[in-house]
Amino acid sequence: MTASPDSAKILTNLRVNDLSRGGNGVARDERRVIFIPLTMKDDVVTARIISEDKRFATAEVVEITTPSPDRVTPPCTVFGKCGGCTWQHVPYDQQWKTKRDGVAHALSRASISLDGIPLQEFSAEHPWNYRNRIQLRARPGALGYYARGSKDLVGVERCEIARPELNAVLPELRAEAEKMLGEKFKSGDPDAEVKVEIDVLPDGTVQKSWNARHAALGFRQVNDEQNEKLRGYIRERLTDGAHVLDLFGGSGNFTYDDADRYAYVECVDIGSPDGEIEGQPENYRFFQTDVARWLDRRAKDAERGYFNAKGPVEVIIDPPREGLGDVTNKIVGALESLDARKVIAVGCDADAWARDISRLIKAGWILSEVAVFDLFPQTPHIESVAVLVWEQSTSLFSP
Ligand SMILES: C[S@@+](CC[C@H](N)C(=O)[O-])C[C@H]1O[C@@H](n2cnc3c(N)ncnc32)[C@H](O)[C@@H]1O
Repeated sequence: MTASPDSAKILTNLRVNDLSRGGNGVARDERRVIFIPLTMKDDVVTARIISEDKRFATAEVVEITTPSPDRVTPPCTVFGKCGGCTWQHVPYDQQWKTKRDGVAHALSRASISLDGIPLQEFSAEHPWNYRNRIQLRARPGALGYYARGSKDLVGVERCEIARPELNAVLPELRAEAEKMLGEKFKSGDPDAEVKVEIDVLPDGTVQKSWNARHAALGFRQVNDEQNEKLRGYIRERLTDGAHVLDLFGGSGNFTYDDADRYAYVECVDIGSPDGEIEGQPENYRFFQTDVARWLDRRAKDAERGYFNAKGPVEVIIDPPREGLGDVTNKIVGALESLDARKVIAVGCDADAWARDISRLIKAGWILSEVAVFDLFPQTPHIESVAVLVWEQSTSLFSP
């Protein structure tokens, strides 16, 4: 797409016909589809084209001339300026319908049929004040988030999707940041900026980490209430006595607390604890390493007859947004060698997740269930889960 600098690209009386699963309102003129952030179905707007090619254009709203009758008033005072949640103007039921239909669309684009398989839905009961972790930046005079589309800083007094415990410490953080920035200024740094990640634990304690790499406090799903539903869903689909591989398993979110139900659990993640942690169950092991490499070694062991599964092998895969990517074939091949009877695929990008499932189906697993969870209200993001089973299993495990 090319940037469109001239002011002649103003479109008036543009009706928004839809809300895309990517998050933008969708309008059309006689030639093409136009994506307009911060709008929704039935808005009529004046908009400026900012980039375009033959079939698509992106435009910024100049004025909402007739707002959709369904619009709601965003509670956040910096909505639209801040780069965070862009759906505060959309009623929650429409947010959820757009996300859910988006997952169905991603599956059909990957030629995956949901014939006879219902999309199980876990929307959020509490679509505000849910985030247990936020990352803020501070520059002289402001503590807040990067702006939408730039690295300008938008100062915030409170964040409407953050947990109250996190909002409560913002004044204290502001004071600490001012002190740190003052010192940086003195040492001659004109672009002084500091960052802080804060995290509220289940017992209400707030942890903070200044100027560390992202997720220095460890990966954790950001929405505790919805994460509980996700954990419960996965737990109910794993079999008692299974040998579970919790791949991209972080700190064992999906398996650690229920380890006694399984014969054995191996949790693999580059961010997993290094070695044993206090109180770790005997049948639970962490591997702080790359999943593809670890699986490759395991698969070679299995091919040589050295892998003694302690129960039927069941696998959870929960990769980052980009899905399995370049190592998809390697991982799927290894899961075949390990005779995985069940694969539970979790993903936070519907297209990447659907691609991974499609590859598993081609290899012989059968899609048996699909569920969607809203861990990120007020944003277009959604968490999806697919359960795939291998029906003609010749198990490496013999009871
Ligand atoms: C979506 S998170 C899932 C974490 C975990 N399942 C949970 O619910 O807390 C993705 C995880 O993938 C890990 N990761 C990313 N690339 C990896 C790789 N190549 N090998 C192993 N782990 C990786 C990250 O450290 C992160 O914990």
